[in-house]
Amino acid sequence: MGMEFYEVIKTRRSVRSYKPDPIPEDVLERVLDAARIAPSGSNRQPWKFIVVKDEETKKKLVPACHNQSWIADAPVIIVACARELDYNRGGYMGKLSGVMDAAIAFTHLILAARTEGLGTCWIGSFDNERVKEILEVPKGWNVAALTPLGYPAGGEGVFRETTDRKPLEEIVSTDKF
Ligand SMILES: Cc1cc2nc3c(=O)[nH]c(=O)nc-3n(C[C@H](O)[C@H](O)[C@H](O)COP(=O)(O)O)c2cc1C
Repeated sequence: MGMEFYEVIKTRRSVRSYKPDPIPEDVLERVLDAARIAPSGSNRQPWKFIVVKDEETKKKLVPACHNQSWIADAPVIIVACARELDYNRGGYMGKLSGVMDAAIAFTHLILAARTEGLGTCWIGSFDNERVKEILEVPKGWNVAALTPLGYPAGGEGVFRETTDRKPLEEIVSTDKF
């Protein structure tokens, strides 16, 4: 079990076409557990992951995600929620820290999914209030991200390495910006 780590991160792609095939429960649990063990500021773990399996609920999420209708084709949509934190540590990061922590855990989940041969696509284009209403997310929580989760319609072949990235020289500098 398990792929080599660099192989995983190189071949994770955003998958926008899914087979309806169900995800075995043990596989789903491993993917969720990868999120559970993620690091967070002061180990607060200010997250909750909603596993949406109900067909009607999945369909309701589509208009709340700017009509990205293909997300409902996957057997599952995972919704990462973040507790509204406001830690006064340096000011700027305070309000962002919950979403930041949830994003780290979601990255774990997405990479674990790739290891299991499952496709994901980070959905950042959504209406927080509408998604909250549909899923009964309580006050004091926000939606950080969603992803469909399922086997790619295109099979394993969709997990290709990308060439669509800036070169390292452009994004790394030494000692100053
Ligand atoms: C924060 C964030 C938000 C994104 N939102 C969307 C989205 O709403 N819809 C979508 O189809 N892809 C979305 N993406 C996927 C990106 O378009 C994709 O990661 C990028 O083009 C690189 O392609 P790759 O993931 O296949 O390597 C999002 C990715 C991130 C990290």
